[in-house]
Amino acid sequence: MAYEHIIFDVEDNIAWITFNRPKRLNALSGALLDEFSDALARIEGDENIRVLILTGAGDKAFVAGADIKEISECNTLSAKLFAEKGQQVISKLQQLSIPAIAAVNGYALGGGNEIVLACDFAYASETAVLGFPEITLGIIPGFGGTQRLARLIGTAKAKEMIFTGKRISATAAREYGMINKVCAPESLLDEVREAAKTIASRGKVSVRAAKEVINLGMDADLNTGLAIEAIAFAICMAGEDAREGTSAFLEKRKPVFKGGFRG
Ligand code: CAA
Repeated sequence: MAYEHIIFDVEDNIAWITFNRPKRLNALSGALLDEFSDALARIEGDENIRVLILTGAGDKAFVAGADIKEISECNTLSAKLFAEKGQQVISKLQQLSIPAIAAVNGYALGGGNEIVLACDFAYASETAVLGFPEITLGIIPGFGGTQRLARLIGTAKAKEMIFTGKRISATAAREYGMINKVCAPESLLDEVREAAKTIASRGKVSVRAAKEVINLGMDADLNTGLAIEAIAFAICMAGEDAREGTSAFLEKRKPVFKGGFRG
């Protein structure tokens, strides 16, 4: 598929998806969601890609939400289908085998904030603004925001944000636990790239295992999560990276991870 509304790049084992409708503040149209979904499938099919970074084109927005013009034309049925389409793509992002990091370079509102919440973590520019303004449009978040925000920051803070529609700064979002780090605008992409490079230098089997175990465990009770962790730990031990990592420590050298499995 050729892309018109996103830019897809791979650089040093790191994939970049840039939402690219700057005149519409990168709003999520149906066509953009199709391209986003296609790019995620390409990433999932390429074992050499180790980390995904998502950001927005232009200097104003990460993503200012779902496309309000398209929403305004929906009837009840098409609105449900639109919400389900957005939910499916954003769940695909959350379930991606490799880590996904959001570089929030401006407005992350509604659907944009829903993308941030589905990433494994996010860094934001000091100028970023996050929120769920749907209530001001007479609707509610429809791409997973009511569920993921409440799970991440707690129901009371999530309800206040969603009921009022008030936007918050990057610093407030960090205090809420939605953003890991607030960066100067000019250094945001470099800082995210550095974090991605560090992750890409680790063992690819263990990074994927850690992500999957944390995600599965968050939807399970503690004992089930611990059982999943023990199984994944044992699977990691069957990998060549575990032998390399432990040997390198004992031999006082840097490990060279190749990601293979023992026969
Ligand atoms: N959908 C479609 N177009 C959008 C858009 C959106 N979500 N956000 C901005 N745009 C368009 C504007 O209509 C405008 O187009 P024109 O130049 O043709 O007038 C252009 O982008 C630039 O936007 P503004 O002139 O409004 O820029 P601003 O700096 O004055 O304001 C803003 C920036 C505060 C982000 C404002 O654009 C805004 O409030 N946008 C809407 C945010 C929003 O409500 N998002 C939630 C959408 S619903 C949703 O996401 C539901 C869901 O969960 C799935």
